[in-house]
Amino acid sequence: MSEGGVLFVDHAGVLGGAELSLLDLSAAFGAGSEVLLLADGPFREALESRGVRVHVEALGALKHVKKETRIPGPAAFADAARIATHVSKRAKSHRVIYANSQKAFVVAAAAGLFARRPVVWHLRDILAPPHFSGTNVRAAITLANLRAARVIANSRATAAAFTGAGGHESLVRVVHNGIDPAPFDAVTIESATAARAALRLPAGAFVVALFGRFHPWKGQQVLLEALARLPRVHALFVGAPLFGEEAFASALQAQAARTGVADRAHFLGFRADVPELMRAADVIVHASVYPEPFGRVIVEGMLAERPVIATRAGGVTEIIDDETGVLVPPNDAAAMAQAIESLAADPSRAANLAARGAARARAGFSVTAMVRGVEEAIRDLI
Ligand code: UDP
Ligand code: GLC
Repeated sequence: MSEGGVLFVDHAGVLGGAELSLLDLSAAFGAGSEVLLLADGPFREALESRGVRVHVEALGALKHVKKETRIPGPAAFADAARIATHVSKRAKSHRVIYANSQKAFVVAAAAGLFARRPVVWHLRDILAPPHFSGTNVRAAITLANLRAARVIANSRATAAAFTGAGGHESLVRVVHNGIDPAPFDAVTIESATAARAALRLPAGAFVVALFGRFHPWKGQQVLLEALARLPRVHALFVGAPLFGEEAFASALQAQAARTGVADRAHFLGFRADVPELMRAADVIVHASVYPEPFGRVIVEGMLAERPVIATRAGGVTEIIDDETGVLVPPNDAAAMAQAIESLAADPSRAANLAARGAARARAGFSVTAMVRGVEEAIRDLI
């Protein structure tokens, strides 16, 4: 990218999937580009360690506007105006403002108007209930149609929800996420064995693992329910409540105790050693109960050469099918339990699915293809 490249804007300081995707993308865009975060946190450190120029301008009242919120209060509007002014000043030395989240897009839309810069929205959410209220969807679509020069959707499902709610089709380009296989390839038998030993599981336990932030739509509760039907299976829950879902995390612990699976449900918190933990498990489970926009964890499980069980909804079926994994209906603990049991009972089928999944993930979801896709989607704006 040329000097005076892209000003990427993200509202989060934590490491969610949207942020991890932007990490690889912004690193590839080079020195002319910059990331502006509306909150400080580990995401800033991760960007800095990759050599990405990053600046933090923290949100005040706007931070408290949740996606289910119907109408934000006046303090949130004042805050948005302050941030937008700041973003527009920084945008003067860039060609494009690139919003990586919905909150960032609201700010970027205003900043783009002040700075006279085109605004790109990388849409990583399925804009539909129950993910978002009808009011929120209408506001987001209206703003996008008015102010976005381009909408990059992380899956065809995400794009379809956008156009289905009235978003202009001409704005949309689909670019799937890419995941670097290197950290998965670097896991040795020794490091995977060490990761498993550190978990102190009984010898010979069959281990399933769910990676994801704690949120009711990610379906941790469904895997817990499945676990109650599978007396010999242990489950790892890897992730944390990143956006204020602490009560849900406590409810999961209570569910595990109440249903008698607490000794087989292992809550590991947010971890940086996802590749090792995936290799320490026998099966990777994705359990989202609402349509997943994309689902990086599915590609990662495939790159770790583990059989992946995923729920058939949203962008998931653009990643994995019955040849490369196991698809189950969302919110169906009985089907989830049965899928786990069938993989435990048939190791050679599990190994075949894992091998085909790994080949598919490598061929279809590279970082290079993602970066090229984004460059092509915004070339005419730069
Ligand atoms: N992840 C992580 N540590 C954890 C749990 C998850 O680094 O303890 C990562 C995971 O490897 C994946 C991302 O968080 O890259 C989650 O992205 P995904 O697209 O699956 O879901 P999102 O949270 O963006 O909805
Ligand atoms: C969002 C979505 C997730 C997607 C990620 C990266 O956080 O929830 O499905 O994989 O963005 O695009």
